[in-house]
Amino acid sequence: MSPKVLILNGPNLNMLGQREVEIYGGETLAEIESACRSRAEGYAMEIDFRQSNGEAELVDWIQDARGKVQGIIINGGAYTHTSIAILDALKMVDVPIIEVHLSNIFQREDFRRKSYISAAAKGLIAGFGGTGYVLALDAMNQLIQPENED
Ligand code: DQA
Repeated sequence: MSPKVLILNGPNLNMLGQREVEIYGGETLAEIESACRSRAEGYAMEIDFRQSNGEAELVDWIQDARGKVQGIIINGGAYTHTSIAILDALKMVDVPIIEVHLSNIFQREDFRRKSYISAAAKGLIAGFGGTGYVLALDAMNQLIQPENED
């Protein structure tokens, strides 16, 4: 059975392509999703790619993923820096979690240097724009299908 990976996007990421393009790049979330789909296909992975502006909805989706997915990739957007609720939900899911950010959060305002999500994540990819999601899938493939490395 092909492994399933949940890819979660937090608030304002639906606006990619129109939002602070000098920081986040011109790629839309739909384009990032499509790049993820082609990479996942090569790894025979199934992906469930979602975005929500709501913290509660993200928490519900994470809770619901328990026992149903083999990995989670998450760009929590601004909730990265504020949400203990998302951290607590991630801690209940016993699969590898990879944190992604389009921008290098360590080069920006001080408040972006703190990530609650990192405490639950195996690792973090930041600063590579939409490519970071594809890199996260490469890393996820190595973690969950080590026999299937390209
Ligand atoms: C972001 C970084 C966050 O600080 C910001 O609030 C975002 C996007 C990123 O992908 O670079 O919404 O997660």
